[in-house]
Amino acid sequence: MSLLVKNGRVVTASHDHIADVLVEDDKIHAIGTNLPFSADQVIDATGMLVLPGGIDPHVHLDMPFMGTFSSDSYETGTRAALFGGTTTVIDFILQKQQHSLQEALEEWQSRARGNAVGDYSFHMAVTDFNERTKAEIINMVEQEGITSFKTFMAYKGALMIDDRQMVGLMNEVRERGGMVTAHATNGDVIDFLIAKHRAEGKLTPLYHYLSQPEITEAEASHRFVDMAGYTGCPAYIVHLTCEGALNAVRDADRRNGQVFVETCVQYLLLDASLYEDELEGAKWVMSPPLREKKDQQALWAGINQGLVKVVGTDHCPFMWEQKKMGEKDFSKIPNGHPGIEHRMELLYSEGVHKGRITLNKFVEVACTNPARIFGMFPRKGTIGIGSDADLVIFDPTYKHRLSASTHHMNVDYSAYEGWEVTGKVKTVILRGQIAIDKDACLVDKGYGQFIRRNKVSNKI
Ligand code: URP
Ligand code: ZN
Ligand code: ZN
Repeated sequence: MSLLVKNGRVVTASHDHIADVLVEDDKIHAIGTNLPFSADQVIDATGMLVLPGGIDPHVHLDMPFMGTFSSDSYETGTRAALFGGTTTVIDFILQKQQHSLQEALEEWQSRARGNAVGDYSFHMAVTDFNERTKAEIINMVEQEGITSFKTFMAYKGALMIDDRQMVGLMNEVRERGGMVTAHATNGDVIDFLIAKHRAEGKLTPLYHYLSQPEITEAEASHRFVDMAGYTGCPAYIVHLTCEGALNAVRDADRRNGQVFVETCVQYLLLDASLYEDELEGAKWVMSPPLREKKDQQALWAGINQGLVKVVGTDHCPFMWEQKKMGEKDFSKIPNGHPGIEHRMELLYSEGVHKGRITLNKFVEVACTNPARIFGMFPRKGTIGIGSDADLVIFDPTYKHRLSASTHHMNVDYSAYEGWEVTGKVKTVILRGQIAIDKDACLVDKGYGQFIRRNKVSNKI
């Protein structure tokens, strides 16, 4: 099967030109102006942007967490991602403490296999690093194509590892050609503040925010970067939210070499004033919490300075009924919010359309850098000859409103209800197949493939 996308404005992290793109089967076969080829199917993309398929490297689908499960399955979550122009996601496997990495891998494979609509890969979250789990790292990298290992410096008792485990893991992962990533917040200080607020009867969503002040993230980010520098392990901070943490990375990085930084779209656009709403504030309870306007400015600047390399979502949706598990106590609100579907459109609208970032930068942080950093480039993340034919045909002027009544995520509220967005995903092609067109999904569950990833380094 061949497909010719004609006359679009083809944008990559480094190029921007009007061209045709010829797809043969699942790969990009040719790119150029007025390509002299016929094809089985032709799409006229005049006036449209033609972008690489988006890559969201931070999602939690069907994840057991805080006494419940995140509400998007592999089917609903990857389908919603496709509607929003994200063709590949990387989900987090959570090792259960005192159990093996292999057991966790099998559990996640059983949820994903045959269910994913879009492509997916896995990070492995190591929650219990010991001699047995150390011995499993090589197999994950060499046999399973799982090359990034997530750590939690918070959520004590369930997910958190200590610094002794962290440096042990970093040494092993560096030897095997992988990368260590971190939820970098100081779990002990957060636990102290949660206990203090609860003891004082301060139980509303605002106290979720006040239990995780900027210093808890700045301190842990600095420590993580220092440990990465000390061990020489490629490293990446997930969902960095604030100026203090960014400065900590800047400072530590100056001495120790490169650590990659990811932020998420909500930290660029939403702020902590939402927690003042006692009834609805739970919708935005996530960790780390939303921050202040000055932090948004620091993050946009960090993107333009090249320090923030990736914009993900940390998509971890819960139904309102699930959020109500914490209506009497903020510490019981399942942490996380929905975003997988809106990342590309929001980042385009608030970033490119409003003049905060360039079009090339948009592609870089939403598509290309996640592929490069996590060992999927050039198969994914760009429009190049031989790359997977993952393309997004995007109307840059179309205005629409986001709403729970029209989104495709399996969650009954929107974090962006009523937001007006300029720019809309029109057509999505995944490995040569038209997956989304005219607001319909044309591929079935099971179409999504597991993407094995290559070894990584701290150079991209
Ligand atoms: O609140 C969040 N972020 N929930 C998902 C788990 C995590 O910490 O990434
Ligand atoms: Zn996290
Ligand atoms: Zn997360």
